[in-house]
Amino acid sequence: MNRRYRIGVIGAGSRATAFTPQLHTRMTRAELYGVCDIDGDRLDRYVKEQHLEGIRASTDVEAFLNEKELDAVVVTAADFAHCDITVKALKAGKPVYMEKPIAHTLDDAYTMLECQRQTGGLVYMGFNLRASPTYIKLRQLIRGGVLGQVLHITGVEQLHVAHIASFMRRFHRHSHLNGGLLNAKCSHDMDLLQWLIGHEHRVVKISSFGGCDIFKPARQPATHCRLCPSATYNACPYKAPNADDLRAGRATLPRENNPDLYPGDLCVYTHDKDLVDNQTLILEWDHGVRGNFNLQAFQHMGNRTNRIWGEKGVLDFDTLREPNITFTHSATGDVENLHFQPRVGGHGGVDGLMLDRFLDAIESHDVGDAGMKEGLAATLLAIKADESRLTGKTVEIPMEMYEQRPQSV
Ligand SMILES: NC(=O)c1ccc[n+]([C@@H]2O[C@H](COP(=O)([O-])OP(=O)(O)OC[C@H]3O[C@@H](n4cnc5c(N)ncnc54)[C@H](O)[C@@H]3O)[C@@H](O)[C@H]2O)c1
Repeated sequence: MNRRYRIGVIGAGSRATAFTPQLHTRMTRAELYGVCDIDGDRLDRYVKEQHLEGIRASTDVEAFLNEKELDAVVVTAADFAHCDITVKALKAGKPVYMEKPIAHTLDDAYTMLECQRQTGGLVYMGFNLRASPTYIKLRQLIRGGVLGQVLHITGVEQLHVAHIASFMRRFHRHSHLNGGLLNAKCSHDMDLLQWLIGHEHRVVKISSFGGCDIFKPARQPATHCRLCPSATYNACPYKAPNADDLRAGRATLPRENNPDLYPGDLCVYTHDKDLVDNQTLILEWDHGVRGNFNLQAFQHMGNRTNRIWGEKGVLDFDTLREPNITFTHSATGDVENLHFQPRVGGHGGVDGLMLDRFLDAIESHDVGDAGMKEGLAATLLAIKADESRLTGKTVEIPMEMYEQRPQSV
């Protein structure tokens, strides 16, 4: 238990900023060994911004993973790189903390699962919302029987305007790079719905509708914020974070080796994307529980809500409301306030906790219910929902697909 793990971070983008301070300064059980990113410019920028000068920094993923002094890795690389990095890490015998989503395609997810089975290595899925005390409480209530028989679960994710803008602007706008908005953003929610009901049951049918109804090319005033007419630009809630400085000549765009992935102040109404900006799902589990999920983007405050109906009443959950959880008894109408957790820090302060869970998993060689199969289950729902959205048909999910690659994938 006294061991201090030397952890490498692979993928030096915005998510990595949450982990580096945890590893570098706070954790007693771990330390930051080094950072790796295939893009040397992004790596240099990251090292500078995070004040990590002198730390091991590498652009060669395979060589980095095979360094003797490295004990384990946190993968915060882009979704399309998760499979390649995980396979290399498992072959190098290094435990992996994997950011959600597990992968951008089912093919990649199955490849990762197969490699993990062959090598016997460890991959911990970083579904950080599961570490939030409010979700833990909600799960205890549902599974503890407060509702009696559970009938229906709803989930809603509202993205605030800057959040959806960042998806419309960067590489996420191409679904072939991230598996679609539902997979890239709402794999958290696809996981939560299944985790709240219990992974011993499976979603077996799914229907979905959705579209890109606001971020349409017909509304595009200019290709980039810096070229946008002033009145339109000033009124636009989706302007790129550094666009004021670019327009005033106080800044230049950071050098990007692949400007298609990171196009800076690209207009959110651009034509070269295939992302939805709203989507709704209907789900049915194998034991008859039904549910729905709704992704909406045009909100001032980002939040999540759930409502769960059972024979004895209704549980309501809202990340922003005080209290977060109420229970309305069906027989009397009495409303009980069951839980309130003030918001603390980014991600509710759980990133350090997630690292602790990862280290526990390494020590016990047990990821519990946060393994690759749960990662696959979340991406499976997202991808099958999109299949339904695009074909206009209800999609059945054979139980086998939660375990292994079916013949057709
Ligand atoms: N848990 C959460 O709430 C949460 C929040 C944000 C992002 N994420 C996840 O974290 C990951 C990173 O997201 P981000 O917003 O930091 O993205 P980002 O685009 O800011 O950074 C991704 C980095 O990965 C690097 N990269 C790409 N291919 C690589 C490869 N083959 N090897 C090594 N590095 C590679 C890129 O150069 C880039 O620097 C994504 O999977 C995303 O879904 C999770």
